[in-house]
Formats: sequence, structure tokens, C-alpha cells
Amino acid sequence: MIYLLGGTGYIGRAFHRHLTRHGIAHRVVRRAELDYADPARLLAALRADRVTFLINAAGYTGKPNVDAAEHQKAECLFGNAVLPGRIAEACASARVPWGHVSSGCIYQGARPDGSGFTELDPPNFSFRAGPCSFYSGSKALGEEVLAAYPDVYQWRIRIPFDHLDHPRNYLSKLLRYPRLLDARNSLTHLAEFVPAALAFAEKRPEPGLYNFTNPGSVTTREITALLAATVAPGRDFAFFADEAEFMRTAASTPRSNCVLDSSKLLAAGIPLAPIHEALRAALAAWRPAPRDEVGSLS
Ligand SMILES: NC(=O)c1ccc[n+]([C@@H]2O[C@H](COP(=O)([O-])OP(=O)(O)OC[C@H]3O[C@@H](n4cnc5c(N)ncnc54)[C@H](OP(=O)(O)O)[C@@H]3O)[C@@H](O)[C@H]2O)c1
Repeated sequence: MIYLLGGTGYIGRAFHRHLTRHGIAHRVVRRAELDYADPARLLAALRADRVTFLINAAGYTGKPNVDAAEHQKAECLFGNAVLPGRIAEACASARVPWGHVSSGCIYQGARPDGSGFTELDPPNFSFRAGPCSFYSGSKALGEEVLAAYPDVYQWRIRIPFDHLDHPRNYLSKLLRYPRLLDARNSLTHLAEFVPAALAFAEKRPEPGLYNFTNPGSVTTREITALLAATVAPGRDFAFFADEAEFMRTAASTPRSNCVLDSSKLLAAGIPLAPIHEALRAALAAWRPAPRDEVGSLS
């Protein structure tokens, strides 16, 4: 039996869909029904349900975007730094291995030679190495908290996208925002991430940090060219002149744009498609997300 925390959220619903479709025994645990931030309650539930693996897709993301975290700091710290530690306590006591959905947004840019940051590089977009957004700082603190625990996978995803047109899908965002910032990033194909993360429960590679992005990186302009060639024929996308204009007119806290190296994931025997291939696959399968998800998650 797999426990899925945050199964009502954008990432969690992708897990829920996959687990249901494949008939994998699981339970979506909602805060409203079980206070999973209370280690004693979570421990009792893990034992009662004989849980074999837990996925934590719960956390604070900020709505409509990470700017919200600048005004909801306590909630953000609780969801991203305190909650993972509480879950870790319960899982360690129950001896349940688990995976935590972390984020690669704790880095900015790339290594000096242009290559991606590896799991050995300390975050450079965090409270310890600023400047950063409050959201990114809280995610880096969450990783620090979990570093003390032995049997947890920390899956660093970045700017998730897939084939379902949905307000939370990065490709949908690019189609809907009036103006875009051109930047180079590593991204995560959600449709590949979910089965690949579940493969951790089967293969049980070494616990620890994993950059969970599709190999390579891509610029916003490269993606809009793909969109204009497929689902938005001929669309002329508008861009900010530079990051300074974006910050002045559209954002209140800096954004992470970064390149990650995902070779540790590959070495664990869990390959993802190269990023341009993954984007083309998502656009080839493009369709609306289930209606019940769009309203409740936008
Ligand atoms: N979406 C992204 O672009 C992205 C990118 C990188 C990393 N991540 C990480 O992936 C995880 C899930 O993201 P998501 O986009 O699926 O988030 P989401 O749609 O906001 O859902 C998060 C879920 O977490 C639960 N939760 C528990 N404590 C919470 C708290 N203090 N504040 C808010 N929600 C709380 C809620 O479920 P219940 O109330 O039902 O229990 C909620 O449905 C987060 O840790 C996020 O940092 C997301």
C-alpha cells in the first residue's frame, strides 16, 4: 500500500491518476481527514495501513504564483520546511521508505562552463546563498531538514509540463501569459516523472537527492517556436525586453532559471527522454485536462 500526501494538488493528481489507472494499491491522504503534519498520527496510520512506500506531493506553492509566498511566509515555511521533517520522523519510526517532491528552483543559472548543477553543488538561490525568493529559500531549507534522515528520496523537479492543457501546466502558461521572459531552463515532463518516481519504490536506488529533470535544457523562445509549429499555429509570442523589465512590471520576487544535470538519475537506471523530445511528445498528444481538475486547481 502506497500513501500519497498532497494527492489533491497538481503534482499529486498526476500520481493519483497513474496509480488508479495501473491498479496500484494506494490511499490519497488529505490534511482535512488526517493531520499528516502530526508525526504520531501519521505513524499510527502508516502502521495501521501497512504502508510500504510514501509519496509526499504536499507542500506550499503560492497562488497564483510564488510571489504569494512573500506574504504568506509562515504557511510557506510550514508546508515546505517543517512538514517534510514531520513526515520524515513518522516514516523513520515506521521504517517506511519515501519520496519527497522537492524543487530544482534552489539554483540560478548554470555552472561557469555552462553545464548543469549536480546534486553535489550547494544551492545558490537559497537563504544561505541569496538573493532568492521566499518560496525557493523554503524549499532549500526542506532539503536541509531531510538530509538528516536515511531513507528518503528527494526528487527535484522543475517547471512541470505535460500533454494536458491545464492552467498549472507550463506549456499552457506560455500559451496564456500576455508576455514571456526568455530564459534557459531544465524542465520536468510530468507524464514521465510519475512512473519514474514510482520506479524508485521498486528499484530502491541509493536514497538522497535526485535532479529529476529531462536531460538538457531549453529556452523559452525554443518552446514558443515548438508551440507555434504545433498547437498554436503561427502564433507570435510577446516577450519582455529583459529580466529587469519583467521584474519591474510583472513580478515582485526573483525567479529561478537554471540548468540541472540529471545524470545521477540515469545512472540509477531511471532514464527520461531528452528535453526537446519530451516537449515534442507532449505537444503531439496535446488535449484538454479533465474538466474536474481544471476548476479546482487553477
Ligand atoms: N507545480 C510546480 O510547478 C512545482 C515545481 C517544483 C516543485 N513542486 C513541488 O511539488 C509539490 C506539490 O506541488 P503542487 O504544484 O502539486 O502544489 P498544489 O497544487 O498547491 O498542491 C499541494 C497540496 O499539498 C497539500 N498541503 C499540505 N500542506 C500544505 C500547505 N501548508 N500549504 C498548501 N498545501 C498544502 C494540499 O493537499 P491536502 O490539503 O489535500 O492535504 C495541496 O493540495 C510542492 O512541494 C512543490 O513545491 C511543484
